[in-house]
Amino acid sequence: MSDVRTVPVALGARSYDVRIGRGLLARAGDHIAPLTRRGTVWVVTEETVARHHLAALQAGLSAGGLSARVLTLPPGEATKSWHWLQHTVEWLLAERVERRDIVVAFGGGVIGDLVGFAAAILRRGVRFVQIPTSLLAQVDSSVGGKTGINTAHGKNLVGAFHQPGLVLADIDVLDTMTGRDFRAGYGEVVKYGLLGDAEFFAWLEEHGPALAAGDPTLRAHAVRRSVEMKAEIVARDETEEGDRALLNLGHTFGHALEAATGYSDRLLHGEGVAIGCALAFELSSRLGLCSQEDPSRVRAHLAAMGLRRDLHEIPGDLPDADGLLRLMGQDKKVVAGQLRFILARGIGHAFVTADVPTGAVRALLADALAAR
Ligand code: GLY
Repeated sequence: MSDVRTVPVALGARSYDVRIGRGLLARAGDHIAPLTRRGTVWVVTEETVARHHLAALQAGLSAGGLSARVLTLPPGEATKSWHWLQHTVEWLLAERVERRDIVVAFGGGVIGDLVGFAAAILRRGVRFVQIPTSLLAQVDSSVGGKTGINTAHGKNLVGAFHQPGLVLADIDVLDTMTGRDFRAGYGEVVKYGLLGDAEFFAWLEEHGPALAAGDPTLRAHAVRRSVEMKAEIVARDETEEGDRALLNLGHTFGHALEAATGYSDRLLHGEGVAIGCALAFELSSRLGLCSQEDPSRVRAHLAAMGLRRDLHEIPGDLPDADGLLRLMGQDKKVVAGQLRFILARGIGHAFVTADVPTGAVRALLADALAAR
């Protein structure tokens, strides 16, 4: 077997491993079989992932003595909805999936969040395994147990914390991602360096372009370091009472921009996070928390990676600063009506605060919009 690195997520009785490496699909059965007494697992995936990788997963499960029943959903963010949640739960019930059975979420963030939520509410909680197939899902959404769907009121507003029993991140599946999706996922990787590991950010500045070009060793390192950081924060604060909000660096701005662009391909989630990180560092610098060089360095790296970093790179119209502020008010980090921001005292030194003058945020957004 090729080199597989394991990152434990330490959550007491709900602890699990994230296994990262090449060729993991081919060994999926060996990894999952110890978790179940049945010879079958229930795989929920989407059409694009199924076209590229389902045969390899089924062969890998079969090599480990497991057969798979498969539900294939449409690709895209619109699948993270009440409709497809109901469809998935009804399918699992029709299949007579029991609490101790294993449901496999095989796809990117949409599938992981939707299937994780279906597993959370089915029979008050069945076990599930995440096999994330996008960079974003490997470094962020498959780890930590946040599951849910979108509604007309916003993204991820309905959901549950439900930890997987295992995460298998096969680096090879990233090869079939489009360049834009990969770069968007990279927005989340940069986030980890920016929030808590300046050395990792410097490593990304040096190796990011080769990693994006496809180097599997560099990719495995970036996924592992990101997952280590996430696992450590989640183990400290599983349900986001405090430090876990650090993982939302760039997300308060990013979610507002995603809402303003209708969750469409005008702006992918990770692209919103990248722009949001640039704005969070700009705000931190304006508030005198970090040096003026820090936002410039963030933006330079995003530019080097072909990622958007300015509002003018978003096609089409955007609301004005007050409109964006209103959209930020739907953020899950709002406490007693007060928005909490993730700001930084420098690269690798983020912190959570509710103490941000609204006027400073409005002025930042107005300036960013005026530069369009
Ligand atoms: N994606 C942020 C978190 O899992 O907390």
